[in-house]
Amino acid sequence: MITKQKRKIVLIGDGLVGSAYAFSVVQQGLANELVIINKKPDRSMGDALDLEDATPFTAPVSVSTGRYKDCQDADIVVICAGAAQKPGETRLQLVEKNLKIMKEIVQEVVNTGFKGIFLVAANPVDILTYAVQKISDLPANKVIGSGTSLDSARLRVALGKEFKVDPRDVRVDMLAEHGDSEFAAYSCATIGGIPLLDYAATMGISIQRLQKIEDQIRNKAYDIINRKGATYYGVATSLARITKAIMDDQNAVLPVSVYLNGEYGQKDIYLGTPVVINRQGIRKVIELPLNAREQVSLANSAKVLQETTANGMA
Ligand code: LAC
Repeated sequence: MITKQKRKIVLIGDGLVGSAYAFSVVQQGLANELVIINKKPDRSMGDALDLEDATPFTAPVSVSTGRYKDCQDADIVVICAGAAQKPGETRLQLVEKNLKIMKEIVQEVVNTGFKGIFLVAANPVDILTYAVQKISDLPANKVIGSGTSLDSARLRVALGKEFKVDPRDVRVDMLAEHGDSEFAAYSCATIGGIPLLDYAATMGISIQRLQKIEDQIRNKAYDIINRKGATYYGVATSLARITKAIMDDQNAVLPVSVYLNGEYGQKDIYLGTPVVINRQGIRKVIELPLNAREQVSLANSAKVLQETTANGMA
């Protein structure tokens, strides 16, 4: 007899990002049960009723609103709750208000006896994911932040256009903070197995041009927020990709915000780097062989986050 494996997701925070993520979960058949928790219950009920209308066209999934008790047997609790950046506001400037929200939410979830995986998207995501792990005391490999998965996707889109190749075939990652101190690990990047920097040289694309693109990626969210008020489709789809790697036990290699315990010379911090991810969470942290310049960038990013964490969690 084929047993239908439970695939239960509880989404906490049904704002623009949460709602786009819920839509991705339904569209991609990532769960057979999706429970939405929101501080304004009317919003989540409206979304649940709207989303269920899509289910005759998708893989079967029950979509409902719920309460924290529904987290008890969830496979993944996804936290999209929290204030979003306003035009010109940095992610780090959200730390105090979103830490408060995170502490309330995580305590409620932990009180249910939840033992699944936390997936965090609220900003500043590296610091908030660190806080979720400390408050929940779940094993660090089960507390994951969306991190630089979105930034790496943005970089692949931009380089795909620059090199005229499918962005999925540009093997490059943005590392460290999901924020202003992130950087592109160009020295470890490849296209078709050729070092990206060599590939660029064959096309007459200079290092300066690549650094300009890196800077555009670092600032892309500000551009989108200035134009439409918020970002949500990119980050929601990044979250869906991470969710799929977990639910389908894929052992996929993805850049996310992960707890470092010595990698890159960093300890007791969450930063973006590629990992191997499966149904148990993070199976392996991949430490890229960064060049000297990139190592300095990573250390700088870690310092920025540690200083902000110290101030924010004081
Ligand atoms: C962005 C938000 C998710 O980069 O931080 O679009």
